[in-house]
Formats: sequence, structure tokens, C-alpha cells
Amino acid sequence: MWKKTQETVKFLKEKGFVDIDYAIILGTGLGNFTDVMDIHIRIPYKEIPNFPVSTVVGHHGELVYGSIGDKKIMAMRGRFHYYEGWSIQEATFPVRVMKYLDIDTLIVSNASGGVNSAFKTGDIMLITDHINMMPEHPLRGANDERFGPRFVDMHEAYDKQMIAHMNTIADELGVGLQQGIYLALQGPTFETPAEYGMVRRLGADAVGMSTVPEVIVAKHMGMKCFGVSVITDLGVEGQVEEVSHEEVQKVAKIAERTVGKLVKRFIETY
Ligand code: HPA
Repeated sequence: MWKKTQETVKFLKEKGFVDIDYAIILGTGLGNFTDVMDIHIRIPYKEIPNFPVSTVVGHHGELVYGSIGDKKIMAMRGRFHYYEGWSIQEATFPVRVMKYLDIDTLIVSNASGGVNSAFKTGDIMLITDHINMMPEHPLRGANDERFGPRFVDMHEAYDKQMIAHMNTIADELGVGLQQGIYLALQGPTFETPAEYGMVRRLGADAVGMSTVPEVIVAKHMGMKCFGVSVITDLGVEGQVEEVSHEEVQKVAKIAERTVGKLVKRFIETY
């Protein structure tokens, strides 16, 4: 893993991925965040040594380097999910690479199902914490101390200062936000009504199939993390409705412009 990481880092540095302030992983329907960036370099995942190639419709599969104001950004258009068949270490490999590109802050976005009865479809939720219910843990196995410690503190997985700053920006822009806990299941099935009920009773506000492994790996390496989730469907007890990937993408697409505006301003001002 270490050797592969160094190989990929060397390749990307030679391509010009240097001096990066923020890494951002763009999930379902949010891939066009790059529209608000000045793009300098784009490389398809398949041309990057050791990178997996994403197989999900709506995930673009390219790495973008660009800027917003005077901040440099590396954006992943499309992520790797455990349900695609990658091991959890493969799925989180790009996060390993980020750290050795000297990036110390990770912004993640995703789509999720809301289980909090105060939520509406299309709401934007800042992730305040997570519950890891994935069947594999990305840090299982011998620990490589060059990446980080064996036992990782997770008391503030999602940076409180960044959350506070985003709330200020949302106020300024007149955008209403939700906040809550994201629970990760492996998917690829959406949840049954009984499972949504379980998610709620476990203490979460939203459920999805990604993000948590990425944040765990980022925290292992001492990175700061910030996460935003678009509530694309509701799994509220007693009123669970049919959900499809198309519907998830449609709702995420509508929220995309608002999320883009928020994150752009966030990066300009943080
Ligand atoms: N469940 C799991 N993942 C999801 C959902 C959901 O309801 N919506 C979008 N991603």
C-alpha cells in the first residue's frame, strides 16, 4: 500500500497536482461541482497508476485539479464504493494519496436517505458525526505507522470549526441547512422499512453507502474532515416510499447548485 501510494503521488505531482489546500470527493449527482472551479488539469482515473475505476452511473471517474479564488483544489469526480466489489482498502486508496500530496483537509459529499422525520427530500445536511456499520474496516490488518497510529481518535471526526463556518455562510446566503448523523451500510440495496427504522433507532439522521470509510482513513492520517449530504429520499417510519437510483440522482442534481454555491463560498473564505 505504501509503495503504491508513493507511485501514484509521484505521478500526480509530476502532472502538476501541487500546493493543494482542499481535497473534495464528489458523490452522486454532485460531480458537477467542478463547474464552479477554474480547472487546470483533469485526468481520467483509468490513466492514474493504482487508481480503481468507478463503475456507478452518474459517477464521472476523473481527478480534477483547479482553483477557487486563491485556493487550490483536487476534486474526485466519482468515488469508489465497497458494494462495487473493491476491498475497503482499495475503495479508500485515493484518500491515502491525498495525504501524501500534502493535503490536510478533506471535504466529502454524498446522497443519503433521511430517517429524521423533520427532514424533507432535497434538504442539505451537514454531517456532524457518523456510525460505521460497514462490514469491513479500512484499518483492519497490520498497521503501517507511516500512515498513522494503530488506534485512531474519532471524537471529532467532522471538524466543528468547519461546521460552524458553513453554518455562517448558509445564513449569509439565506440557505437553510440540516445537521445530523450519517450511518453507513454496505448497499447496494436501499433499505427496507424495517431497516430504515433500525437506522433511526440506532441514532442516525441519514443513511448511505459511502463516505465513512473515507473519513476513517483520512482521520487515520490526521486530516480534517467536513461532510455534506443531500437527502434524496425519506425512510421515515410509516411513510417509506419507493426509491430508485434515478430519483436519487434527480434530487441530488437539483440540490447540486446550492451545495456548489455553499462549498465555493466556504473554500473562498475559510
Ligand atoms: N439509502 C441508502 N443510500 C442512499 C439512500 C438511501 O435511502 N439514498 C441515497 N443513497
